Amino acid sequence: MNYKIVVVSALISSAGNSTHAQTIHSPSGKLALRFSLSAAGEPTYQLSYGAKPVLKPSRLGVLVKGQPGFEQGLTVARVDSSQHDDTWTPVWGETKTIRNHYRELAVTVQQAAAPRRRMVLRFRVFDDGLGFRYEWAAQPGFTYFVVSGERTEFNLPADHKAFWIPGDYDSNEYAYTTSRLSAVNTTPIKPIELPAAPTRVQTPLMLKADNGLYVNIHEAALVNYPAMMLNVDTKTFGLASQLVPDAVGNLAYLQAPEHTPWRTVVVADNAPAVLASKLILNLNEPSKIADTGWIKPQKFVGVWWEMQTGKATWNYADTTNIKLAGTNWNKLKPNGRHGANTANVKRYIDFAAAHHIPGVLVEGWNVGWEDWVGNWKEEVFDFVTPYPDFDVDELRNYAADKGVNIIMHHETSGSVTNYERRQEDAYKFMNDHGYTSLKTGYVGKIIPRGEHHDGQWMVNHYLRTAQKTAASRIMVDMHESVRPTGLHRTYPNWLACEAARGNEFNAFSEGNPPEHETILPFTRFMGGPMDYTPGIFKLTNYEPTGQRRVHTTLAKQLALYVTLYSPLQMAADLPENYNAHLDAFKFIEDVPVDWDDTRILAAEPGDYITTVRQAKGKDEWYLGSITDENARTQPIKLDFLTPGQRYEATIYADGKGADWQKNPASYQITKQVVTSKSALTLKLAPGGGAAISFKPVKK
Ligand code: NOJ
Ligand code: CA
Repeated sequence: MNYKIVVVSALISSAGNSTHAQTIHSPSGKLALRFSLSAAGEPTYQLSYGAKPVLKPSRLGVLVKGQPGFEQGLTVARVDSSQHDDTWTPVWGETKTIRNHYRELAVTVQQAAAPRRRMVLRFRVFDDGLGFRYEWAAQPGFTYFVVSGERTEFNLPADHKAFWIPGDYDSNEYAYTTSRLSAVNTTPIKPIELPAAPTRVQTPLMLKADNGLYVNIHEAALVNYPAMMLNVDTKTFGLASQLVPDAVGNLAYLQAPEHTPWRTVVVADNAPAVLASKLILNLNEPSKIADTGWIKPQKFVGVWWEMQTGKATWNYADTTNIKLAGTNWNKLKPNGRHGANTANVKRYIDFAAAHHIPGVLVEGWNVGWEDWVGNWKEEVFDFVTPYPDFDVDELRNYAADKGVNIIMHHETSGSVTNYERRQEDAYKFMNDHGYTSLKTGYVGKIIPRGEHHDGQWMVNHYLRTAQKTAASRIMVDMHESVRPTGLHRTYPNWLACEAARGNEFNAFSEGNPPEHETILPFTRFMGGPMDYTPGIFKLTNYEPTGQRRVHTTLAKQLALYVTLYSPLQMAADLPENYNAHLDAFKFIEDVPVDWDDTRILAAEPGDYITTVRQAKGKDEWYLGSITDENARTQPIKLDFLTPGQRYEATIYADGKGADWQKNPASYQITKQVVTSKSALTLKLAPGGGAAISFKPVKK
């Protein structure tokens, strides 16, 4: 199926004041989008799923600073419709191929009065939801313009249950709150470290309606534009776009021809279908990287958790007030706890090599960590100078001999102008020293001050970084970035982002509640893979206070490698903690990070998820099943397996008395031979999970 039909259905004169109502249906007819213009020339849309309303009439439009906008006083100049159906192959992903099947409506609106400028509203209706965006062709007198507001609304028909985090312009590292939309401003949010704006929430926003519909609102292909947050009207259940502003309150600086990102509304009558949606990827452009052979999904370990838990430090000395230029790092007195020292890194390389883990992340290898947070200096790191106890060449050779790659780390400490000046040298350093993968980070206030992590200026920085790293054949993972919007289709070297509250919060805060990982796939992961850093085996007593804990069982940590999709998965714990449970570590060693097929067997946001995936190019399957704080029995039919083939199932389950609070480390591993006709019943402990590998039994 590879065809494209374009039908110009109607050409409508710009005269008159009719509503110009247009309805298009998704390919199966299930979803219907209706566009109309009010008597005041306001563009409006509504969406329904069969007889059920998804969005009530909701306004559309864009305001332009100092000029007539595109939100009222408009006429319809032209209407085009078309349909599209093809199938494409991602460089890596959850499935081997992806079908892109939609019907499109493009409405050209025009200002009724001078200067009579035009804008196109393009809608794509898929069976799993809607995407729409605003577009401006080049037109006389309209080249440079500043967006001062969007009128984009998502007016919900009822008081849905919402899974949300507050609309912070600089951080997405929150635990989710579940409440009715009417209670967004009155529900106390989970303990957090950062201030909240309780009537503004972030996307992806997951909603569940009482009539059984699941609705997810986000965006696709966020390029050269600020991220969209949503203001919630707790009385009418209307959501309105709030773009992240810059320091002086402007939203986006554009130059025609240009278009906004796609606003996306995924709709389904069951929760697994939301997780299976490929709508956001379909709305992104194909890969811009021609030769992708060097891009490799990968697992990694790292000199990392020991710093998160306070056992080691990123910094080499305990001296503060150090200046990047002019400091003789060899003269500093070492604090004796520096994690990134050559001997310690070798320990991780040895462990990785022994367990077929291709990557070793090393943080704290480069000078500047003595004084990196709090001061918000411009010059903190140069990204090319190692500490005296980190031998770049020796480690590179040691790793290479063992078939392992060291993963580079660039913490920018939010000093992005400094990083941009140094990126070229930093990537050359990586190429010269054999590094193929990079983790970046943007902790703290962005320098220049006034820019937000999720504003247009930073959105452009993240994308340029994906492009620059691609040009140097470097794979990249960004922490503290804006949440993803499917751009990994276009830049498949951009393997993952953090951009949510990761497992790391269990190291240094009250942590992530047991339901957290059952919500993440419905929210943060809708836009793309996350570097969540699962795989903690020592679940208590891993940091000096003894107060912190991981809010899952050990078996659930294994299940996360399947339920949380990412081509980049860390085995985050220390080698000594894995060596104490090598039988359980076998699952992490085996589990792939690239897949030919994915089936969501059961899911409900906030409660449970069971996912099974087929390894790339192999008849091997891996299953992950997780629950929130409640124990659960999960029946599973194995009809996804190849009929007639026998498989050895290795089941990593919660053990006797397992409970995330009372007995998190109890697990049991059993093996049995199964076929596609078999069924299993998994018993998940409170905060628990199960992981299973299915490998064909040789005849
Ligand atoms: C925050 C990141 O999420 C974490 O992974 C990293 O170790 C620290 N910043 C230091 O860069
Ligand atoms: Ca972080």
